[in-house]
Amino acid sequence: MIDREADFGTPAVTGGPLVALTIDGRPASVPAGTSVLRAAAEIGIAIPRLCATDLVSAYGSCRLCIVEIAGRRGTPASCTTPVEAGMVVSTNTPRLTALRRGIIELYLSDHPTDCLTCAANGACELQTVAGQVGLRTVRRLPDSPSHCEEPPQAATPYFSYDPARCIVCARCVRACAEVQGSFALTVAGRGFTSRIRPGEAPDFLGSDCVACGACVQVCPTAALIETSVIRQGQPTRVVETTCAYCGVGCSLRAEAQGETMVRMVPSRQGGANQGHACIKGRFAWGWATHKDRITTPMIRERRTDPWRVVGWDEAIAFAASRFQAIQARYGHRAIGGITSSRCTNEEVFAVQKMIRAAFGNNNVDTCARVCHSPTGYGLKQTFGTSAGTQDFKSVDQADVILVIGANPTDGHPVFAARLSRRVRQGAKLVVIDPRRTDLVDRPHARATLHLPLLPGSNVAMVNALAHVIVTEGWVDEAFVAARCDADSFRDWAAFIADPANAPETVEPITGVAAGLVREAARLYATAGNGAIYYGLGVTEHSQGSTTVMAIANLAMATGNIGREGVGVNPLRGQNNVQGSCDMGSFPHEFPGYRDVADPEVRHLFETAWGRSLEAEPGLRIPNMFDAALAGTFRGLFVHGEDIAQSDPNSRHVVAALEALDLLVVQDLFLSETAAYAHVFLPGTSFLEKDGTFTNAERRVNRVRPVMSPRQGRHEWQIVADLATALGHPMGWPDSAAIMDEIARLTPAFQGISHARLDRSGSVQWPCDEAAPEGTPIMHRDSFARGKGQFVITAFVPTRERTSRYYPLILTTGRILSQYNVGAQTRRTDNVTWHPEDVLELHPHDAEERGIRNGEMVTLASRMGSTSLRAKLSVRVPLGVVYTTFHHPVTGANVVTTDQSDWATNCPEYKVTAVQVSRANDQIGGTAD
Ligand code: SF4
Ligand code: SF4
Ligand code: SF4
Ligand code: FES
Repeated sequence: MIDREADFGTPAVTGGPLVALTIDGRPASVPAGTSVLRAAAEIGIAIPRLCATDLVSAYGSCRLCIVEIAGRRGTPASCTTPVEAGMVVSTNTPRLTALRRGIIELYLSDHPTDCLTCAANGACELQTVAGQVGLRTVRRLPDSPSHCEEPPQAATPYFSYDPARCIVCARCVRACAEVQGSFALTVAGRGFTSRIRPGEAPDFLGSDCVACGACVQVCPTAALIETSVIRQGQPTRVVETTCAYCGVGCSLRAEAQGETMVRMVPSRQGGANQGHACIKGRFAWGWATHKDRITTPMIRERRTDPWRVVGWDEAIAFAASRFQAIQARYGHRAIGGITSSRCTNEEVFAVQKMIRAAFGNNNVDTCARVCHSPTGYGLKQTFGTSAGTQDFKSVDQADVILVIGANPTDGHPVFAARLSRRVRQGAKLVVIDPRRTDLVDRPHARATLHLPLLPGSNVAMVNALAHVIVTEGWVDEAFVAARCDADSFRDWAAFIADPANAPETVEPITGVAAGLVREAARLYATAGNGAIYYGLGVTEHSQGSTTVMAIANLAMATGNIGREGVGVNPLRGQNNVQGSCDMGSFPHEFPGYRDVADPEVRHLFETAWGRSLEAEPGLRIPNMFDAALAGTFRGLFVHGEDIAQSDPNSRHVVAALEALDLLVVQDLFLSETAAYAHVFLPGTSFLEKDGTFTNAERRVNRVRPVMSPRQGRHEWQIVADLATALGHPMGWPDSAAIMDEIARLTPAFQGISHARLDRSGSVQWPCDEAAPEGTPIMHRDSFARGKGQFVITAFVPTRERTSRYYPLILTTGRILSQYNVGAQTRRTDNVTWHPEDVLELHPHDAEERGIRNGEMVTLASRMGSTSLRAKLSVRVPLGVVYTTFHHPVTGANVVTTDQSDWATNCPEYKVTAVQVSRANDQIGGTAD
């Protein structure tokens, strides 16, 4: 059996004055408000308990945790009794033991006693407590009613519910409500008939359950248990690692038997998640050993040839010689590469170094180009650092929370759970999004305001909010005077006060009533700590960078920067998108966002890498595609990205890939992109990687191998081998050495090493001499750039316009159970929840077109068309349709356009003029 994380019985209390008491003759000192149960646990005294766990609030139902307190009558439950100064507590007297034995006997008299063959055997808390109190026999009354014959149910593909083993402790009900915020479970009935039910629904799948697994984690018996544990048995070893899906970056305990994964349990110590996870991180890891994985290198002369399986040396030599041949014929800038935000910092660093040092150019870009590059640009201009300002727990101090263009319940579920908890505690929530996302109507955490703006009007909307703040006198003058650049503020204030930015003026642009905008602005400026969270609904627009800067202006004008509870926080999409940007994946920046044109910085890298480096920025991804079609760019290394599926205007992307002389793809599966490749280098899953990811709060977290690389070597080794074949050996003995090099060359990472992370856990950059413990909150006393810079953010409408032929606006996004292009999640049981992409369409728009719910429709834009199933929904406003891009069969990006952000070329995924018709009807569009 493995060591479980310590459970202190009730949640920690922080901040209160310390209270001293005595427990079993030993002194204890804990913050006021702490339970006696927890105080005892903290000094190593384990009071038997069943209904209490430190992940949820105390309930006081099982009565096992009873204690005796000097001067008090009876035996109070220690989980619901707060400590008091001078208290003298006894936890283990003969009277208590006898009482506990009676309670446990009662539980076991209505519980199966097939412990040896139970899936929880050895990890069952009921079994443990029975041993603790020395129960040896269980009396059962003949003919007494029992639940023991109730059959188990498959609650979801990932866990089962066995009512016979349920002791009705309601831990699951509380976890669902308090940790996850879904309120999907209830205790139905009373007394003996009490049972756990998924609300009014017939089963879990039909209920509000989002399969986060919080209930499974807290269940003390095998009543709720992972099907993988039932199938394989209890794990025998545990490895602390980090989720490889979204930018929350949950810390996970991978529990395995040898090299076989058994289950994933979120870590209580996880700085980003503190014991919670979502359906993806907790359950959707089966793809890592899926039969579709390619584990041998493959090459072919032409993309029409069949693949030839070869050894590593041949594959590397083939790729290197082809890259060299292209450079010899077309010049050294005719090749380049794309790094992956799914990979570790060390792997990304290796790829960008290979491109700069071994390819000898700066033609490196990353998938962040198509998601958060405007964040990098916008926050650097205004604050001086391309990163979010807060840690996640900062939201616990927020009084008003603005969520703009983000759908965290689907995209960042663990953060959404935390945010919702804060709203349940009383914080106000303003959601600015075209769709009525789940966040708007969460149980017991409804948004105060929802501003359903039209796609493409973000800048007008944020300017209008700022206009109200400036013209109604809500500016935090003291903050602005002390912390911001005076000239830029004066110019910006004059610009924003112009009536052209008034909510009433922009109402026709945003589609949101001016009164609602004014209310939201007042709330943000006056309710105390104002925090802004935003997502790809902000960045993936032709004015993405402008909106990021408008948001930064808003936060600076109201003084909502530099302390807990406030800030500007991009919700990063992929697990390591922050890290891939930090590691120098952009064509104009070395690691640490330092300009390639800066001679001093270049000299630093030239000295370290032993060769001269280019001063000119390289090609961005869209420029690479254009150059490929123009014949000047002929060789591409794609690291773990499926650009043929994920990038906009797929036809254009595919044409560019087809034009290449050499495409090298390093990936796990034969992706859509790999179909055009000449070399396939198999990669490693996160369960095999050794390195770090950096999450949306700049937290650098260890990723540790649970199993050895399925294809025989680490991805950074493959990249280093390719670089060596190209004449530039990297010389790293292991992944830790790469991090050491990163720390030597990147000031914000100066204090970070694998050894340090292994010793003391995750750390948020900057971590340097000035901040040796890292930096949870940025810009506390001054901005990274000195004074905060206000930037004028004029609204410029997108060139993508609706027309007679394309009268609707398509906006795209994600769904909880699937991830990005679905390469991983489609290869797991998550398909149960989202088997296909659907098109959300307002019922009136559907009726006009004669479309019924569930019918196949054609979605067409000026770029192309595809077919998918219609889902009628009032979550989208009139004139707007919405879909996801998780399934290649839909190819939603066939219809998206080439429009992109003016500053960064981030594609405008969120605004495409489309028409929708029944699948068999003709769309009468031309080029208009
Ligand atoms: S299912 Fe588990 S956690 Fe829920 S009430 Fe039953 S025993 Fe307790
Ligand atoms: S899996 Fe999560 S959402 Fe579903 S019932 Fe359990 S706690 Fe609630
Ligand atoms: S919230 Fe994100 S990081 Fe956490 S488990 Fe889910 S997908 Fe993984
Ligand atoms: S653990 Fe305290 S009453 Fe159950």
